[in-house]
Amino acid sequence: MKAPGAAGHDHAGHDHAGHDHAGHDHAGHDHAGSGGSLSAGEMWDQRYAATDHVWTAEPDELLVELAGPLEPGKALDLAAGEGRNACWLASRGWQVTAVDASRVAIERALARAGAQGTELTTLVADLADYEPEAGAFDLVVVSNLHLERSLHSLVLDRARVALAPGGHLFVVGHHRESAGLGGPPDPERLYTEEIVREALAGLDILRLEKIERLHEGHGSTHSVFDVLGWAVRR
Ligand SMILES: C[S@@+](CC[C@H](N)C(=O)[O-])C[C@H]1O[C@@H](n2cnc3c(N)ncnc32)[C@H](O)[C@@H]1O
Repeated sequence: MKAPGAAGHDHAGHDHAGHDHAGHDHAGHDHAGSGGSLSAGEMWDQRYAATDHVWTAEPDELLVELAGPLEPGKALDLAAGEGRNACWLASRGWQVTAVDASRVAIERALARAGAQGTELTTLVADLADYEPEAGAFDLVVVSNLHLERSLHSLVLDRARVALAPGGHLFVVGHHRESAGLGGPPDPERLYTEEIVREALAGLDILRLEKIERLHEGHGSTHSVFDVLGWAVRR
């Protein structure tokens, strides 16, 4: 991901595939420390509105590798942000529903989809409240969503229920070992292999691994660990 421009840390011009910066991913159903009463959508709207383009436009390379060979069907991108993954899927012929708490992000996703001649179904919603239709999706994507544990579990439970038979679930996020290097600073919001294993419960796990990716920012390039989960509902 590209470094966020909020809070005076705009590293414009650097695209950081799949990574956000330490200390800047506080928003997202965290009502503490950001003005007290702001919703996830309001906090993320502020962050998105502070700069033209928060994340890289490139889809996650692991999603490209894993979903690329699949027959397009119905996809659900939870916390789709500016739509880099949703738009890539749409360009491949998927019918994509993109959900995010931030209206600003969803508007950017729609603009991007339009610019490439595709369509998205979008919804501005807090994932605490959004319940996707059960059994309706051939692919569910949860990319770089770092929530507090209880909400994270709820969202992943719903993501599994949303899968149609044969549907795939893609989960990726920063590893707890990289706290302070990528994503929110609170390690509780970051992933471990065990957390992702729990998130994939009841599915056939095809990939579950810690992966190292390069992260550019703050004038340096360093490694950040992520956790990837890829599973199918039989
Ligand atoms: C780090 S960005 C990731 C965006 C996208 N998935 C990607 O990989 O580029 C996290 C996204 O989660 C969204 N988000 C955070 N908390 C949320 C919540 N409670 N409900 C819905 N969306 C939320 C934010 O608005 C933001 O767009």
